[in-house]
Amino acid sequence: MSTYSAPLQPSRTTATARNIDPAVAAAVRSGLTASHKSLPAWLFYDAEGSRLFERITLLPEYYLTRTERAIFTAEADRIIAAAFTAWHQATGDGHITSDGAGKLRLLELGAGTATKTGILLAAAVRAQGETSYLPIDVSASAIAEACDSLAQTLPQVNIQPEIANYVTDVLGIPPHNGPTLALYIGSSVGNFAHAEAVAILRNLRAQLQAGDTLLLGTDLVKDTAALEAAYCDADGVTEAFNLNMLRRLHRELGASFDLSTFRHVASFNREASRIEMHLKSTRNQYVRIPALNLSVPFQVGETIHTENSYKFTRESIAGLLREGGFSVTQTFTDPQNYFAVTLSTVAASS
Ligand code: AVJ
Repeated sequence: MSTYSAPLQPSRTTATARNIDPAVAAAVRSGLTASHKSLPAWLFYDAEGSRLFERITLLPEYYLTRTERAIFTAEADRIIAAAFTAWHQATGDGHITSDGAGKLRLLELGAGTATKTGILLAAAVRAQGETSYLPIDVSASAIAEACDSLAQTLPQVNIQPEIANYVTDVLGIPPHNGPTLALYIGSSVGNFAHAEAVAILRNLRAQLQAGDTLLLGTDLVKDTAALEAAYCDADGVTEAFNLNMLRRLHRELGASFDLSTFRHVASFNREASRIEMHLKSTRNQYVRIPALNLSVPFQVGETIHTENSYKFTRESIAGLLREGGFSVTQTFTDPQNYFAVTLSTVAASS
């Protein structure tokens, strides 16, 4: 070890000296100064939160991911065939030509690491030898991971990634001489209240043509115990996922949350048809957030609302799609009716 130490840089990294994401700062300030405290669910997904979510998808209680995957495995060929049928019916043009015109391409909102999408891409490759895939995601690293794994497993897929936020950005999807099957799966739409979900679908709809299709994956309303167990697992992974939001505020803003004084709460609100996740303070306390020059008071029992996860019925799915400019053509579900994968087509006049 050297006996000489170079002078320290102006400061060791303190929260205020670090690069602070202005979107994070603004969301935290507005959420924690409101009378009903909340933090947006997108704050879950830093590197640690994304890793914890991957663990959630493997939990026995979290039936969503494996149920949707089972539906894809059972129905992928029929889904791809139905997408061709919709295109054929709308355009009268169902043949594939040698230059690739007429070939089905897949597009995905919030692709993430696209682990389930491979099942549908493989079915498209079986049907037509090759396909294009346009994953749209805010996370460049998730897209890169998806590209790497697909390049290994499905070299017949031509990947054209787009880094964009499908909630806030106008989508710029390149035109295509053939059908597009858009995927919005994983019950991702469940994080959004109705009006916002409609706006997301309309933003997508504006980029599609008559005969294009949307495959929407949604969790279904079911008994409260099964729903609540999925968001309050025995191993505490969902609890760690929820609390990671406070850890993140510590890492990025220097916030002084004592994690032993916040409890994970997940409950089904049947009137609103959603699971709500909260973090509940077990005592009266102040939490300092130096980077925001903010001190946040908590009463004992007060909560921070961190997530809504909406649960659907066939009727509410059809209504959402209709308002978004799509009409349902076929619903695929599992034997327990736990999860729905709904194929819809671009509605004639919207
Ligand atoms: C990624 C929004 C589909 O709502 O089930 C999992 C997120 N939150 N456990 C969901 C989540 C807690 C998940 N989505």
